[in-house]
Amino acid sequence: MAQDKQSQDKGTGARLIGVGSALPRRAFSNDELAAEFNLDTSDEWIRTRTGIQQRHIVSGDETAVSLAHMAAQRALDHAGRTAEDVDAIIVATSTPDQVFPSVAVRVQAALGMEQGFGFDVSAACSGFVYALTVGDSMIRSGQAKRIMVIGVEVFSRLLDWEDRSTCVLFGDGAGAVLLEAGAGEGEGILSTHLHADGRLGDLLYVDGAVGCASGKVALKMHGREVFRHAVVNLAAAVDEALETNGLKGTDIQWMVPHQANLRIIDGMAKKLSLPSERVVVTVDRHANTSAASIPLALDEAVRDGRIKQGDLVLMEALGGGLTWGSALIRM
Ligand code: UT7
Repeated sequence: MAQDKQSQDKGTGARLIGVGSALPRRAFSNDELAAEFNLDTSDEWIRTRTGIQQRHIVSGDETAVSLAHMAAQRALDHAGRTAEDVDAIIVATSTPDQVFPSVAVRVQAALGMEQGFGFDVSAACSGFVYALTVGDSMIRSGQAKRIMVIGVEVFSRLLDWEDRSTCVLFGDGAGAVLLEAGAGEGEGILSTHLHADGRLGDLLYVDGAVGCASGKVALKMHGREVFRHAVVNLAAAVDEALETNGLKGTDIQWMVPHQANLRIIDGMAKKLSLPSERVVVTVDRHANTSAASIPLALDEAVRDGRIKQGDLVLMEALGGGLTWGSALIRM
């Protein structure tokens, strides 16, 4: 499925007016993780294959809802808005605290909102791009004026800690953006493109759910195959975004990619002829936080002053499903 936002322009566009993020208190370096879970791995293997040096992992009372709430509150503060200004919350996650209510309505309550609506979106590591697309479409159609879009994951709770080929790759965290109606032509979210190919669902999946007989929950991935699809499909998604907007790779000022593997990120930057200092990288410190990785990286680069108002930012992600997509934003 490909969805071209240009064809559904009805209302006013959506712009990003606030960003926020939250990470669990505890961080584990590669060596600390290996020691904690008695893993037959090495810092050298993890760094050279993925670029990961450490990840944050929830403990104690930290949950998807608590991290999402913190990220959302920071995005509100950053935008100079309060919870009363928000019409809807959309959360991208594969690791909700409960099957229902959604993380979104738990965050709604935690923020003290008595108005609006909320729901979760399930698209694995592409979840944030999917949720952003839904939020943008709802603003364009006039259903809401301000929408909090959150990506949050606590993958540490669904990893098989005896499977070294997956458990070293992921981390926990949350990121949020506040969207607001009112972007003029050439401002805000310029385009989004979504894709999925369910025939590739067995390349990256979580075995088990409440409705599943086995009851065993564990993430499984054919890493090399997913890597191959990521390189091809992300390149196509980026071309599609550039073509839709009549742009060249060199027009992009910042790439804020999904943070799965530094080798994939470097490959995409090379394709766009983007120097490495124009690519926001957090995989070294956060590992792969799935749906949270893009808003976490965006928040970091906005707060440290790299990404400024008016900059052209490209986001891209691929994950379980397989799902993938891109978003092009004038900040
Ligand atoms: O976010 C969703 C999208 N996900 C991705 O985009 C991830 C895409 N895939 C990847 O990033 C890479 O494929 C991985 C990082 C997952 C793996 O890197 P790779 O270069 O494809 O390695 P591999 O799976 O081919 O494994 C190579 C070797 C194997 O040993 P043999 O059979 O060659 O002797 C594994 O047993 O590395 C071994 N290995 C490990 N060794 C030490 C696997 N995991 C580990 C480990 N420590 N943690």
